[in-house]
Amino acid sequence: MKSSMSQIYPMSKILGGISPATFLRDYWQKKPLLIRQAISGFNGLLSASQFRILASSEEVQSRLIIKEGKNWELHHGPFSRSTWRSVNTKAPWTVLIQELNFHLPAAEQLLDHFNFIPHARLDDVMVSHACAGGGVGPHVDSYDVFLLQGPGRRRWRIGSQKNLTLQPGLPLKILKSFKHEEEWVLEPGDMLYLPPNYAHEGVAIDECFTYSIGFRAPSAQEWVAEFLSDFAERLEWPGQYTDPSLKPSQHPGELPESMNQFLAKELKKLHFDAHSLANFNGRFLTDPKPHVFFNPPEYPVSMASFQRDAKLHGIRLDPRTRFMFAKEGAWCNGATLNLAPELRPLVIILADQRCLSPKEMTDALRTYPEAPLKKQLWLWWLEWHENGWLQIDV
Ligand code: SIN
Ligand code: CO
Repeated sequence: MKSSMSQIYPMSKILGGISPATFLRDYWQKKPLLIRQAISGFNGLLSASQFRILASSEEVQSRLIIKEGKNWELHHGPFSRSTWRSVNTKAPWTVLIQELNFHLPAAEQLLDHFNFIPHARLDDVMVSHACAGGGVGPHVDSYDVFLLQGPGRRRWRIGSQKNLTLQPGLPLKILKSFKHEEEWVLEPGDMLYLPPNYAHEGVAIDECFTYSIGFRAPSAQEWVAEFLSDFAERLEWPGQYTDPSLKPSQHPGELPESMNQFLAKELKKLHFDAHSLANFNGRFLTDPKPHVFFNPPEYPVSMASFQRDAKLHGIRLDPRTRFMFAKEGAWCNGATLNLAPELRPLVIILADQRCLSPKEMTDALRTYPEAPLKKQLWLWWLEWHENGWLQIDV
């Protein structure tokens, strides 16, 4: 699916006319920003019936939230027709679909507007569909979020409160006391940016759709724990504790101090060089979430037919594929690419734009006179295609 989004919606207005550099300096991770008509003429990316079809799929993560008085109900999808029949007669409801960018090409294309933020920070595009009065209650998110209004209107209230205590005993995270300082009604195409942990509540005024473009960063706890467990798995540590000068024990039950000292001395040898840190980060940050599965092609594809189709249509990374590069290397879905320096320019294009046009492929292949490099590229691409990581861009 080729990107047409940039032609329909001018990219320059996504931040309301301010430059990405100014936005990042003054707002990103610092304070909210309301952008009226960030995408003028924006009418959403899917209809109510397309939404329902997606929410009925086993492959899609969806949640239904119903508010009855002070009580909140949370149900996990997939949702059948009978769910929709029953919610319509109940109290205000919202259905949320996570990772819409994995399921709807237009949602992946929406992300082109946010290419001034590294892909490493992206979480997903979520869409919510609510009846009038529906919402998920006052809460905070641990990530940066752009709340883009689709069809219908939503009233947002936000506050900079430090007290983030949650109401106990509820199936979702609702703030115990929410005091808003600002309030706006967002119309289709308006967008609100919120930094992490900023209290907010959105209530649908009409039946409405809201698109949340979320940017997550791993917590320090998760990041360091993953690093250490990866480090331990790869560990080759020579030596062993010895005690040739052992003296007779007065207390055989006592832990010898020399054993503590041995461990302390060994740990002082720990050293993490920049290359192995970047290599871990590349693998860690491109590793798909545990629930993500790829769809390999149904039938085996020969190299000859893959090459013919790829040269004709170009190639595109699957929306689930995480692909990154740094000066230390390149990584795809948790795997390190054994990258010849000559291939780096092409890998950079693929990582940035996530696709290669037929022309880009032909030009690149022409600049690699050496047969082994060309062969390496085609082997990668075919293998990724077989894994469901990459598709012919038809
Ligand atoms: C919603 O779309 O209803 C909720 C989005 C949010 O508050 O993060
Ligand atoms: Co939120």
